Amino acid sequence: MIGEPPSFLRACREAFLWPLSFLSLSGGMWLVVHRAGWIPAQLARLDDLARKSTDSLLALAITVVLIRIGRFVFYERVVLRLAKLKAPKLLDQGIAAVVYFLGAGLTLSYVWGVSISSLVATSGVLGLVLGFALKNVLSDFLSGVALNVETPFALNDFVLVKTRGLPPVVGLVREVSWRSTTLMTPERKLVTLPNTLVAESVVENGSQPSSATEFELEIVLDWSIPAHVLQTHLHAAGLETWIAGWTVEPTRARIRKLIGSGIAYKLTYFVDPLRHSKGKVRDALLGNVHKHLRCAGLRPVHEMAPSPQRAVDYDVASERLPLFEQVELFSALHRTERAALAERVSVRRVAEGAAIVEAGTEGSSMFVVASGLVEVKVAGARVAALAPGDFFGEMSLLTGEPRSATVTALVPCVLYEVAKDAMQTLIETRPALAEAFSELVAARKVRRSGPDAPAATGAAGLSGAIASAIHEFFRA
Ligand code: CMP
Repeated sequence: MIGEPPSFLRACREAFLWPLSFLSLSGGMWLVVHRAGWIPAQLARLDDLARKSTDSLLALAITVVLIRIGRFVFYERVVLRLAKLKAPKLLDQGIAAVVYFLGAGLTLSYVWGVSISSLVATSGVLGLVLGFALKNVLSDFLSGVALNVETPFALNDFVLVKTRGLPPVVGLVREVSWRSTTLMTPERKLVTLPNTLVAESVVENGSQPSSATEFELEIVLDWSIPAHVLQTHLHAAGLETWIAGWTVEPTRARIRKLIGSGIAYKLTYFVDPLRHSKGKVRDALLGNVHKHLRCAGLRPVHEMAPSPQRAVDYDVASERLPLFEQVELFSALHRTERAALAERVSVRRVAEGAAIVEAGTEGSSMFVVASGLVEVKVAGARVAALAPGDFFGEMSLLTGEPRSATVTALVPCVLYEVAKDAMQTLIETRPALAEAFSELVAARKVRRSGPDAPAATGAAGLSGAIASAIHEFFRA
């Protein structure tokens, strides 16, 4: 047993303690009755009864031990490991029932001398009586067998069970036993449905052919904004949600209908219920939709309260200010400095797939995402997706180092580009800004490097190094 984990020994003990105790007890009784000859000759009938009873008890104990061995070796160690999931309880319970049935049949036939054919005949009558008495139980059992043969769902599938006259039940299949099917609802409640009910219901399986389950949202946007502009914002929000790992594939946005004051869009998104709950994914998606629309000056409309909207005009300096107030790096600026900077940025409209900065190249400007979504790649791997209000390119602009990553537009984007001379004016007018910027940049860098960053690279040390780099670069 060297090298076996102690839990294996514990599992053996738990599995075999009582079956082996039962076997020893019945074996002991069998030996006493068969070998000791303790019954006086006058009570020969009693002796016969005692022998048959101990034979039957021993046969039962052997059956129990055989079932335990089968379950321990075959079911728990082979089936479960090969399948990498919990096989339906029905399989285990069904096999055990068949072995018990065989054991009982053999005992009746060989120990008690009941002939198999009369046994089958009586079992027919008995079965009829029992069948009437246990009609529901039998129907659940047979439905369970049918469910296992037909397999309309497997363990951990996400299903919707629609039964006439009852509210539909949605959930993950947690167990199919000989009598019932247990689902775990999105609210993490266990619901047990009799197999007969499941067999009679319409079952929609959301996990097959893939485990993704489809959901829909409707959002009504302003009629006066061109549809392709709205589509781009919704697409970018859906893409961001997918890149963050919430949905299984990018959300689709389609026009569902035109109504009085707006265009109703249908957002279709796919959730893996094993990873996230539907509510959390909807939260993340709606949060992103809100961000992309808000940064573009838009909002959903209500049919009863039409309000013509106007999207942000990126070419007008004053309309850039609401976004600039949300940019983390610009939180160090005074209101007047932000307004002055908004006057000096240039607007860049980039097409989907365009590379905005390339790793390793010289760079003397930074960018704020005004609309759309960009991805940041380091050594070919995506490290971030940046949405409206996010910025990039600050490292090279502030320190003069080559670009540390490649940034590409994932959808058509509008970017505000801040050139070195605009930054230079700000820093020359208020030199303390260099320290403020370095602290913000250092904090962001530490946040990005995550818990695996070397301990020595704390935000304070990094901020000092960045501050000297900024001073040196802007003095040059
Ligand atoms: P810069 O080095 O000037 O050019 C590439 C930009 O990508 C960089 O500035 C940062 O703004 C940005 N960047 C680099 N690495 C990451 C990251 N891990 N997460 C988010 N943005 C990054």
